[in-house]
Amino acid sequence: MMPVPLHVAFAASPSGLWRIDRITAVSGEGLPAAERLAVLEGPEAQTARVGVWVLRGVTSNSRYTNRQEADALARHQAMLLRPQATCAALIPIRKTAAWWDMAQDERRAIFEEQSRHISIGLEYLPAVARRLHHSRELGEPFDFLTWFEYAPEHAAAFEELVRRLRDTPEWRYVDREVDIRLRR
Ligand code: HEM
Repeated sequence: MMPVPLHVAFAASPSGLWRIDRITAVSGEGLPAAERLAVLEGPEAQTARVGVWVLRGVTSNSRYTNRQEADALARHQAMLLRPQATCAALIPIRKTAAWWDMAQDERRAIFEEQSRHISIGLEYLPAVARRLHHSRELGEPFDFLTWFEYAPEHAAAFEELVRRLRDTPEWRYVDREVDIRLRR
């Protein structure tokens, strides 16, 4: 079942649970350096004070998955904050006007039939836990805030996943991407 929308703020803040290892600008402008990151949820997220930087998003219903894919994801996905998953990645992404100008069926064709985003992603479950946040509707600088958690022994697999996705036709529509890696 799809949970109700949850507001989430990713705040560069000294009190954050996560230590920031590195911030890499993959496409377009990066983000300022910071030491730690707090992930704030619900009412806390909406009142978060701006630190060095804060990125806001909200969880939502899925846009692209068919029944079979939704069932496969539900069967294999893992929860956030598993004790062994001490590595995380926050990857904010913005897509081009050309992407947003397309119709839903055209985007789906690029996302899955051409790029295999879901079938590639499924290969890395349950090692990688994920949560997608939408930001475009909030007038934020990124369209999506993607969040992933994994154990240190799956760090190489996560690098491979990111490499494979960045090599797909979908990524031709990404014009800003920052890769933030964290540990706790
Ligand atoms: C861990 C394995 C992964 C799985 C199973 C997965 C699965 C999915 C699914 C099912 C969606 C569509 C949600 C919907 O229907 O609205 C999605 C969207 C998205 N994913 Fe992934 N994903 C994975 C990894 C990644 C990674 C590593 C990145 C970034 C490098 C990423 C970036 C995105 C973005 C930006 C979207 C939004 C696309 C859009 O709506 O245009 N995903 N993912």
